[in-house]
Amino acid sequence: MKTKDINGCRIELVEGDITTQDVDSIVNAANSSLRGGGGVDGAIHRAGGPGIMEECRRIGGCPTGWAVLTGGGTLPARHVIHAVGPVYRDGRHGEPELLSGCYRRCLEIAAENRFESVAFPSISTGAYGYPVADAARIALAAAAGFLRSKGVPGVVRFVLFGKAAFDAYAKVLDGLE
Ligand code: APR
Repeated sequence: MKTKDINGCRIELVEGDITTQDVDSIVNAANSSLRGGGGVDGAIHRAGGPGIMEECRRIGGCPTGWAVLTGGGTLPARHVIHAVGPVYRDGRHGEPELLSGCYRRCLEIAAENRFESVAFPSISTGAYGYPVADAARIALAAAAGFLRSKGVPGVVRFVLFGKAAFDAYAKVLDGLE
């Protein structure tokens, strides 16, 4: 675990599985159809039960760079924010802005719903191919910027799957002013 305090809030980095996190909301790295998939998305729907997918079907879809909220089903987390990150091409097709917007929208949803704690995976860095060092810079800058201006939510946790992802985020957090 590695932490940094910003404006009375805390950014935490942990290595682990997001489906086990006991927080107000975890974030899913979903796709625009909200119909499920592999990676984090598959793990969340498996652990959370069919109720989450029923809600996703009712919502219908979500554009890239945006996010929608459902309940947490049988997960320890009370809610799931389904965020749709960009597919990485070369970084010159709006990917940084879309990825940053995705984190910002999730944090807005958390703030609007008065969530005290939210846990993110490393969005877009699996099937969507975003280089993890670049994604870590964007994710942590978005989180730090939001906390500086809004002062909520109290805990923003990044749950990194594997040591390589954890180390990439830790390096960026160390350099964050
Ligand atoms: N907990 C935390 N992180 C996880 C977990 C887990 N249980 N499982 C995988 N990860 C990590 C991956 O190692 C990667 O670093 O989450 C990161 C994001 O990977 P993906 O889940 O592949 O998400 P993404 O790159 O955003 O691609 C989204 O994949 O299956 C789908 O439906 C999803 O089509 C969408 C696409």
